[in-house]
Amino acid sequence: MDSILVEGGHELAGEIPIAGAKNACLTLMPATLLSDGPLTLTNAPRLSDIQTMTQLLQSLGTEVTQMQGGQVLSLSSHALTGTRADYDIVRKMRASILVLGPLLAREGRAEVSLPGGCAIGARPVDLHLSALEKLGAELDLRDGYVHATAPSGGLRGGIVDFPLVSVGATENVLMAATLARGTTEIRNAAREPEIVDLAECLRAMGARIEGEGTSTITVEGVEALSPATHRVVSDRIELGTYMLAPAICGGWVECIGGRMDLVAAFCEKLDAAGITIEETARGLKVSRHNGRVRAVDVATEPFPGFPTDLQAQMMALLCTADGVSRLEENIFENRFMHAPELMRMGARIDVQGGHATVTGVERLKGAPVMATDLRASVSLILAGLAAEGETIVNRVYHLDRGYERVEEKLGAVGARVSRVAGR
Ligand code: UD1
Repeated sequence: MDSILVEGGHELAGEIPIAGAKNACLTLMPATLLSDGPLTLTNAPRLSDIQTMTQLLQSLGTEVTQMQGGQVLSLSSHALTGTRADYDIVRKMRASILVLGPLLAREGRAEVSLPGGCAIGARPVDLHLSALEKLGAELDLRDGYVHATAPSGGLRGGIVDFPLVSVGATENVLMAATLARGTTEIRNAAREPEIVDLAECLRAMGARIEGEGTSTITVEGVEALSPATHRVVSDRIELGTYMLAPAICGGWVECIGGRMDLVAAFCEKLDAAGITIEETARGLKVSRHNGRVRAVDVATEPFPGFPTDLQAQMMALLCTADGVSRLEENIFENRFMHAPELMRMGARIDVQGGHATVTGVERLKGAPVMATDLRASVSLILAGLAAEGETIVNRVYHLDRGYERVEEKLGAVGARVSRVAGR
């Protein structure tokens, strides 16, 4: 398995292009299942999770053509051949559950493996299932699979009132509702930019949706959806990650394609830590010139709050802040697995349940460390940029699920980061 070698202590200067959002693309791709016309996605990121979703859709009969090195995806589901998402694919990537709503809406049935646990907690899918039941779906859990069928005459509109905010469950029911008979109201809906992006794409396909980006989304079902082309929104998590690179090791980086409205809560915290952020004509420019950053407290929340997917990277910054920072993880249990690895680099962190207290140290020291999940792996690379000496981040396959050419992007702005091929 490959490792990433980081030599710390080099200031950064230059531009980093921000790719299309992984999490948006992973929900836009299954939207193809709703229509027999082609769906073309531009600005797609080139990541292994996108390949996994491609495989899953192909196994259902979708034709997927990749153009421009994978940045343009053409998806056509005019002749679906299956309705089953196999355990072998679902266990690799939880986002596979996003085929459930569209299959049910278009084909009237679906069999999707239950995803099981993952490194950052149990992550159930009960909210996806109960939301689809509100549209009339009949569900049966057998052999580790959800067997779902729509009533004769298809799904029908209904009121879905989520007890807690779920991005994936909102996406699944939003897609299903586009073809349901009548009106669906989704209450306590997730407000993430990826939801807005999905709604825009579905509208381009002919869906009738209002209220995306607020907590109530209304969908008026239509008979059929049409061909469309949609540009994937910028990846706010990749953006936040690269904004942290100069914040951690000094210098500046201009993130091309970055938008403040995607990362406002995160920018407030960077600002409080003493990092300079400027909006430019092409994106966001982040710089840090002298002195230590200030400690700040961070609590993760659904959008528009501070994203859980930037918590590990933010912790890497706060390890060398002047003072004591408190981090509170409110979305996922067990999402501080990067803390013991950061401690191997000299960080002082005390984790108690969903709270971590980080006492800033003057300097981190390079060490061999192990990546436990996607965002944890990149937080260790960021920490390595600030550390004295060399850091080797082992087991980086998680990284390739969510970051396009990380060593090239960081290398282009002056970081010493290289990939060491595994044996
Ligand atoms: C998505 C993102 C992930 C991000 C997360 C929160 C994708 C592919 N992944 O994941 O990167 O970290 O949003 O911003 O877009 N929950 C339930 N039952 C359910 C569904 C969720 O209890 O049926 C819980 C989860 O365990 C978690 C919380 O709800 O504690 C939020 O999860 P959710 O928003 O659904 O995350 P994902 O859509 O899986």
